Amino acid sequence: MVACQSMPPTPLIIERLDRTVHDRVTFDCGETELNDYLKFIARQHVDKGYAQVWIAVTKPGCTQIVGYYTLSMTSLAPDELQGKSGVRRVPALLLGKLAVDKRYHGQGIGIRLLMHAQRSALLLSRQVGVHALIVDALHEQAADFYRKYDFEELTTGPLHLYKTIKDIARMGL
Ligand SMILES: CC(C)(COP(=O)(O)OP(=O)(O)OC[C@H]1O[C@@H](n2cnc3c(N)ncnc32)[C@H](O)[C@@H]1OP(=O)(O)O)[C@@H](O)C(=O)NCCC(=O)NCCS
Repeated sequence: MVACQSMPPTPLIIERLDRTVHDRVTFDCGETELNDYLKFIARQHVDKGYAQVWIAVTKPGCTQIVGYYTLSMTSLAPDELQGKSGVRRVPALLLGKLAVDKRYHGQGIGIRLLMHAQRSALLLSRQVGVHALIVDALHEQAADFYRKYDFEELTTGPLHLYKTIKDIARMGL
């Protein structure tokens, strides 16, 4: 195991959850639901193929998790999106969770995780149909974070947001 420096957090390594390396117990983003997901559920979801969990650390082999996000396949009913789609289900990717440890808030880690997720969505969309990246925000304040990066509301409510793959492609990631 490599000793982890707390500052500065760059360069950031984003890698898949490895239960033998990453310390899920000490992670604290300030939201119990997101801490508990990482501690108790994330590994099971990976095993069952429900989600892929991406972990940010400050250097390779580092045990301390500074942030994480999850990606899963999903689909939307056409009326969840603005406009007509012409299909029964609209294929999409779900960014189900995204969190940064409190000690690292405000250091640009959340945006880097979001960029990583968008790049993954773009790469996947070249192999399978993906219309949009969907996010489920925990609360209104979290939704503001996504709105800042051009996510728009689905018709199902202000905490469900999306960005089309076309718009992600225009970012030149
Ligand atoms: C929301 C969260 C992921 C942001 O992570 P972070 O690493 O602190 O954010 P960053 O430093 O990357 O911020 C990037 C930009 O977003 C802005 N920002 C951060 N949180 C924001 C929020 N809740 N609303 C609006 N903007 C926000 C920052 O001010 C910064 O803007 P700037 O570049 O113009 O200065 C983090 O606060 C967190 O983990 N919160 C608890 C869990 C949570 O709410 N997750 C949300 C998904 S459910």
